[in-house]
Amino acid sequence: MTRIDIQNIAVMTSGGDAPGMNAAIRAVVRSSVFYKKDIYGIYRGYEGLIEGDIERFTARKVSNIINRGGTILKTARSEEFRTPQGRKKAYQNLKQNNIDALVVIGGDGSFRGMKIFSEEFDFPVIGIPATIDNDINGTDFSIGFDTASNTAVEAIDKIRDTASSHNRLFFIEVMGRNAGFLALYSGIAGGAEDILIPEEDRGINELLNSLKRSKRSGKTSSIVIVAEGDTTGKNVFDLAKYVEKHLKEYEVRVVIIGHIQRGGCPTTFDRVLASRLGVKAVEALLDGQSQKVVGYKNNRITVYPLETAIKKQKPVNQELIDIIEILTT
Ligand code: F6P
Repeated sequence: MTRIDIQNIAVMTSGGDAPGMNAAIRAVVRSSVFYKKDIYGIYRGYEGLIEGDIERFTARKVSNIINRGGTILKTARSEEFRTPQGRKKAYQNLKQNNIDALVVIGGDGSFRGMKIFSEEFDFPVIGIPATIDNDINGTDFSIGFDTASNTAVEAIDKIRDTASSHNRLFFIEVMGRNAGFLALYSGIAGGAEDILIPEEDRGINELLNSLKRSKRSGKTSSIVIVAEGDTTGKNVFDLAKYVEKHLKEYEVRVVIIGHIQRGGCPTTFDRVLASRLGVKAVEALLDGQSQKVVGYKNNRITVYPLETAIKKQKPVNQELIDIIEILTT
């Protein structure tokens, strides 16, 4: 990578939105201004970059957004950026605006695109992990995960009220794509009877046995959290039907929490994380770093290779899986 003096930085959000993205944009914009650099916002992720949807930002442009969910820069998943032609257009637009470094706030798909782009055009890039799925390797938490888990827990708490009033069993599907972090955290915090995640295939019989045990132990209602990527059943409705057929003593209902998990005001944790990561991303660029991701590991902000973030699946914390059985006794 050729080292250049960076004067003009651009920032974008890409992939699924996550609460706290605005706080990260604010931190990137304000730290660029603080270090006397020019800062540009790119709208609609790579899609907007290809179309030249770019605007010069000031520190005031990001006033009153730290508390807002979504992203003021909008976001998209771009098919065209997957093609060499699309990436060439993107590069030309950056050059035309004299932009010499890019900060991408997003998930692993966005980081993959960023890596190819940086390698093709020798262009400095830094990634800030933001996804409610929390599936980016190398960082303990990504922006948006804490808020989304809190939203899921709030929903679970409400469902618990009606579940216990009617003595029912609820299957609640939470988001997470192929990862079980959201299910594990919201399931433990919501006092779930069982948590089904894609990282751990326990099979349908194990679920039936656990529900039978729970009935025998005197529990009258139950909540099972199902990660959307879990494959114990064909889908959560099929799973519920199967359980109702085999465990006649249960009256079953299904809730899919869905995109509610993506919205809302970011929690304090997400705002502080986003602020710390945003500042670090700019500092890393100005320090001559590229193809790196800023992360949060053991309560410290770190800068680590982009390769680490995308090359392997982030493992779930086994200790969390181990305590489920104990907590549901
Ligand atoms: O990656 C975030 C996420 O919300 C996943 O949990 C979910 O699988 C997916 O995005 C939903 O995508 P869309 O908003 O395109 O339906």
